[in-house]
Amino acid sequence: MSTACTIPVIAIDGPSASGKGTVAALVARELGFHYLDSGAIYRVTAYAAMDKGVALDDEPALVALSRVLDLRFDGAEVYLDGQPVGDAIRTEAAGRAASQIAALPDLRAALLELQRAFRKAPGLVTDGRDMGSVVFPDARLKVFLTATAEERAKRRYKQLIEKGFDASLPALVQDLRERDARDANRSAAPLRLEAGAHLLETTDMTITHAVNQVIGWYREAGQG
Ligand code: DC
Repeated sequence: MSTACTIPVIAIDGPSASGKGTVAALVARELGFHYLDSGAIYRVTAYAAMDKGVALDDEPALVALSRVLDLRFDGAEVYLDGQPVGDAIRTEAAGRAASQIAALPDLRAALLELQRAFRKAPGLVTDGRDMGSVVFPDARLKVFLTATAEERAKRRYKQLIEKGFDASLPALVQDLRERDARDANRSAAPLRLEAGAHLLETTDMTITHAVNQVIGWYREAGQG
């Protein structure tokens, strides 16, 4: 209990496809910290539900499923029941399903402990909706990383095409707008800039610049 609180956490939030995962992973590498992609937890839960025929609005069944998830992270890969599912959970369909189940408060509560277990020395960089507000409220640094929907759609488009998936830029812009609205308007852990979080607008910013800015803020907070 007590030691966990001395382990520093950097929490990076922001809308879907803002690049927060890329930035968080690079900050973690630079500082030698652990990294938790909390969106992957929601994505893999949604994927497992679809795989096992659990309805995405059946909250008790989803909670039960989350308690027996055989989930393992290894670098950028995610394993479910020992099988790599990294690419399968990155599809747009998996993202939509994740957004749907992420609105369920009992499921979010059930996933808390799983996420907190990633807080290990020498520190943790994590990205996701409620990382700074609910999961790690005592995070040393909280960042809200964003970019316009058009810029985020372009980034997501590039990623999907590179992975060999089909993608349509206008459809991605629309999907991101809808997802932002759903994520911002839900009652459980809505998407918003938390008090005390640093705003990082990355529309015209390189990844390196964004990473350096986060590390700069962390050091300014007296931890460098
Ligand atoms: O960041 P992402 O696109 O991988 O997240 C997938 C969905 O899960 C997205 O709709 C936001 C939601 N999510 C959440 O509600 N809380 C988190 N901590 C992480 C993701």
